[in-house]
Amino acid sequence: MLVVWGMERAVYFSSPLRYKFEPLIWIKNDRKGNQMRHANVIAIDGPAGSGKSTVSRRLAGRIGYAYLDTGAMYRAVALAAKRREIPFNNGRKLAQLCGDLNLRFESEHNPPRLLMENEDISEKIRNPEIDMLSSNVSAVKEVREAMCDLQRKMTLDLKTGLVAEGRDMGTVVFPNARFKFLLTASLEERASRRHKELLARGKTMEESTVMNRMKDRDHQDENRTLAPLKPARDALILDSTGMGIDDVVEYMMNHMENSPLLRSI
Ligand code: DC
Repeated sequence: MLVVWGMERAVYFSSPLRYKFEPLIWIKNDRKGNQMRHANVIAIDGPAGSGKSTVSRRLAGRIGYAYLDTGAMYRAVALAAKRREIPFNNGRKLAQLCGDLNLRFESEHNPPRLLMENEDISEKIRNPEIDMLSSNVSAVKEVREAMCDLQRKMTLDLKTGLVAEGRDMGTVVFPNARFKFLLTASLEERASRRHKELLARGKTMEESTVMNRMKDRDHQDENRTLAPLKPARDALILDSTGMGIDDVVEYMMNHMENSPLLRSI
């Protein structure tokens, strides 16, 4: 699987905050006291509609980090599987599919565009059908292994730290992430946000239908056997109900700036 990895453009060169976040690697002592080097990752997990994509992009832009939307990768797998009519219980074929996928983020756009075999699929993966199909496909062991592997490989080429968002960033993919957040909000608020997004894209659906579908998807993502959505032991759980995006970003920045983990650079 070839992935050309683009960088989120740093828009915060002059900020005194930037240098604090700049190092690509941070050192943490393991249980035996050995110094371990880790990629500088901020993991942001959360359910659908929690605002994690917008918050993650803002945060990445603000501190000059790269941004990775892992949900988009599962959505791409779902779209490709649907087109090739691969059933979701055929792990072998799905593994093969993941191996053949040629995904590329174009990060000079905001939000970044996702290309599959040079086709821009950014819009095609954002609809209610792919919402559910991506949740289905993400429960398949072979798909998770391939995506997890790929997401880790992506950090190897990075020239900055990374803000990675998804469901298992802090628990499975980047267990040594420097900062971990679990961003959530009430079901009602998340459904209302998603409903507005759909309307803005010219799609109509009753808000109650959006809410019911979201509930089903949450249930599936939180109760699957592999890498279910749950807070990492060391994650900060942030309920954004009633908060605006700017408030959430400020809250996270404050938390990180006042953390001993930042001062340890
Ligand atoms: O974040 P999103 O709604 O775009 O994600 C789509 C689906 O992909 C979601 O229902 C569950 C799955 N997913 C996952 O299992 N692990 C991730 N790290 C990201 C997404």
